[in-house]
Amino acid sequence: MIVKNYKIKNSSSTDIYISQDYNYYLELIGERDLIIITDNILYNLYPEAFKNKKCIVINHGEENKTLKTVEKIIENLIAFGADRNTLILGFGGGMICDITGFVAGVFMRGASFGFVATTLLAQVDAAIGGKNGVNFKNFKNYIGSIIQPEFVVCDANLLKTLPKLDYISGLGEVIKYAFISDLSFFEYLDENSNEILNQNPDILNYILKKCVEIKAKIVEEDSNDFGLRHILNFGHTIGHSIEIMENIPHGIAVAKGIIEEIKISVKLEYADKSLIEIAEKLISKFIPDYKCEIRQEHIDLLVKDKKKSGNMLNFVFLTNIGQPLIVKTDFQDIIKAIKS
Ligand code: GLY
Repeated sequence: MIVKNYKIKNSSSTDIYISQDYNYYLELIGERDLIIITDNILYNLYPEAFKNKKCIVINHGEENKTLKTVEKIIENLIAFGADRNTLILGFGGGMICDITGFVAGVFMRGASFGFVATTLLAQVDAAIGGKNGVNFKNFKNYIGSIIQPEFVVCDANLLKTLPKLDYISGLGEVIKYAFISDLSFFEYLDENSNEILNQNPDILNYILKKCVEIKAKIVEEDSNDFGLRHILNFGHTIGHSIEIMENIPHGIAVAKGIIEEIKISVKLEYADKSLIEIAEKLISKFIPDYKCEIRQEHIDLLVKDKKKSGNMLNFVFLTNIGQPLIVKTDFQDIIKAIKS
């Protein structure tokens, strides 16, 4: 079932498939030559997916999302005889989607590409919206572009082999969508938390559909991330320093970041303080260890991150469930609110 097509003005269109077996991509590539980029873990976990196919297997892990790996992939593409008519398929989680999109965008000035997204995080976020790239030295996603994939296939069955912690991490991004866009979706997550944690297929497919719809709508309006798309960063400003300092999975850090950013919203008088309790009640159902004490070292990291872009930042406040507000804010006011 195609659940969503999003079209970027004057540009490409992406078809997103949910409740579809991952092999469905074979129907989408037609007569084109196929080359798959995946990682060593998936390659060993799903041997039947790669049998008799041209595959480029890279090492799993964000630390391998580098220009060096890009070079290795391009060497392999050339060895396989790829050209601009080749369909490059990223089969994996966020890291694979990020690097595949980037390689496809630059290889021979642009080859077609699509994704089979294999993690919850990729299915609801990384595979959708065309942001791609690699890390550079200590900077995350510093080199990249925004180019939309031709298609994204999200097969919820693939999540069965996902480590529990990675699944919970994906739920961090799911929760974020509820906070930034939809009270009824928030209530749905609240009422169905056990089924969600147990990966009830119908409920999971509903969640995937909902998140994809929310993100695709935002990307359609602001694909280049000049305005509205910033709301997808809710929870991420503080979440990023929590992720680095605590060395925890991205989505879990985002969930903790959501609570801290709501506290900032309350302190700077954008929201009523009852919102903190409402947020904690929902998040604790999925992430019992949601509390985080923001220490000076988190703030130091925030300051270091911030140095890259001046004193003001477009901070995403939450005024109520489903009601984010982007406000150009003095960075010092954010720091003061965290410390108060
Ligand atoms: N993950 C944030 C975005 O796609 O804009």
